[in-house]
Amino acid sequence: MIRSQPLSFPKSFQWGFAAAAPQIEGAAFEDNKGPSIWDTFARIPGKVLNGDTLDVACDHYHLYEKDLELMAKLGAKNYRLSISWPRIFPKGRGSVNPLGIDFYNRVIDACLLHGVTPWVTMFHWDLPQALEEDFGGWRDRRTADAFGPYADTLVKSLGDRVKNWITINEIFCFTQDGYGNGTKAPGAKESEQVVNQTYHTALLAHGEAVRAVRQYGGHGARVGITDNPIPTIPLTETEGDIEAARQTFIEINSRVLEPLYRGEYTDAYFKVVGPNVAHFQQEDFDLISQKTDFLGLNVYTGQFVRTGANGSPEILPFPKSYPTADATWLAHAPQAIYWCARHVAEIYEVPSIIITENGAGYDDAPPVNGEVLDLHRRDYVRNYLRELHRSIGDGVPVDGYFLWSFMDNYEWMDGYQRRFGVVYNDYATQQRTPKLSAKWFGQVMAENRIL
Ligand code: NOJ
Repeated sequence: MIRSQPLSFPKSFQWGFAAAAPQIEGAAFEDNKGPSIWDTFARIPGKVLNGDTLDVACDHYHLYEKDLELMAKLGAKNYRLSISWPRIFPKGRGSVNPLGIDFYNRVIDACLLHGVTPWVTMFHWDLPQALEEDFGGWRDRRTADAFGPYADTLVKSLGDRVKNWITINEIFCFTQDGYGNGTKAPGAKESEQVVNQTYHTALLAHGEAVRAVRQYGGHGARVGITDNPIPTIPLTETEGDIEAARQTFIEINSRVLEPLYRGEYTDAYFKVVGPNVAHFQQEDFDLISQKTDFLGLNVYTGQFVRTGANGSPEILPFPKSYPTADATWLAHAPQAIYWCARHVAEIYEVPSIIITENGAGYDDAPPVNGEVLDLHRRDYVRNYLRELHRSIGDGVPVDGYFLWSFMDNYEWMDGYQRRFGVVYNDYATQQRTPKLSAKWFGQVMAENRIL
């Protein structure tokens, strides 16, 4: 008799949705919020598709109560949100904007009212414009110095109710893309040395945030960073390819993971950056490599690696016909989630991993008779979850999964066209319509298994 095995997750597994302040809140200049580098960048012609700005976004600033009600109704018990630095410190430092604190107090209270545990990211790319102008943003360690008091303020104001803190989201994206190739804010094209410096400053800011949580977080506070290492997938699960993938993983992700977990810039880092090493002081690493409670991983896609003809690892390009989401960078490679989690567990002995983002961006059509049949997104997520399930079965300590994203939102330089939500947002009316994937994922969360 054939019987299907239930693809269940451990009882303590945490499921939820993820989103970020600049992508959903809107109210970009309301209640004393200062401009962020994204408010400025989006206004430069040609930088963002259709010239879309973050001014209104999903208007979550005004609609948060309804959004949280819907999130809870869909079955979420956890919500990863971010806080806008320029809403709290309009100029990045100096005096606090009490209206900013009030807003997040209301959001956190609304989460708790609906039985949703908040996971708060302190920085999700919306650097106060003033810090870019005053200090050169992430190029300069004074930005990390300013991050310290900001993190203190958040933990002191919200720490009685927020116990899960994420310091910084995806260093790679706002350094390499923001200061290297200029595709994200602030749109700079600096030398490799300067880009490596921006990484270093971001790591220092992470360290400041860990310190703040330890100092003021109180009982039960936990902290981690969210990284988006490039997952390296062995072409075949044979010893040789696995070793090639592992070596490649260490090297291509060495700017962030090596200093965090080894407490120094290692040979892997020096090999990758060559002569363009960031300036650092030895004691920086005491701050950077403080012990954290979990590692957040954002996993969307990966790179296949094999042992090449000469015996060294070889990264394989994706052929033209390889399936992708409408976001073409998003090749459909579900094994990425398995290997990313396994690599960090094996290489860095990370004790607890949270998938802080995974999801798929498509140009979904508007609802028809109240329905969005996003089978494409449902299948994408389902395939990744099966690989996540496999990793847990193999002993990888993955303790949570957050789907990106709750609702369609501002997808950075792709503007509002590219939709990652499981809830459809009509930007003209701000009407939210749960897609098929929302209902399915709600059931997955409720039953704690893949359906
Ligand atoms: C990662 C980022 O953290 C998030 O802001 C973005 O929208 C998603 N990836 C999808 O690209």
